[in-house]
Amino acid sequence: MQNKNIYIASDHAGFDLKTKLLKNFPKINDLGTKTDESVDYPDFAHKLTKEVLKNKKNVGILICGTGVGMSIAANRKKGIRAGLANNSKIARLIRKHNDANVLVLPGRFINTSEAKKSVQAFLSTKFESGRHKRRIKKL
Ligand code: RB5
Repeated sequence: MQNKNIYIASDHAGFDLKTKLLKNFPKINDLGTKTDESVDYPDFAHKLTKEVLKNKKNVGILICGTGVGMSIAANRKKGIRAGLANNSKIARLIRKHNDANVLVLPGRFINTSEAKKSVQAFLSTKFESGRHKRRIKKL
């Protein structure tokens, strides 16, 4: 079985936060965008979800301005459970209750410290299963 891989991608509105997060989490694989030039968020959501879906253990982080565009795009893919979190409590709960395999951050509406805490919480929290598993099966 392949090892777990962690991916990150953003559009231009998430580029600055992505750059800062990568300094703290150097093992995360960067799928772009690589500059702050305007790009289309679905291109990066699709690129990241394609990699995440290659292995059940893989997870991803997506960032756009509000987090909404990335959430919509990512959740169109079967097998992706993307949760938008603007704080670390929500980032923990999307793992515990929703078994989220993608964390979405709102680059223009979260400060760097809270975003770092959110990534840490997302990466270190396990799915609670039980009643939550039953609910996920109904998705
Ligand atoms: C880009 O300006 C912005 O629309 C995008 O980052 C995102 O917020 C879309 O949902």
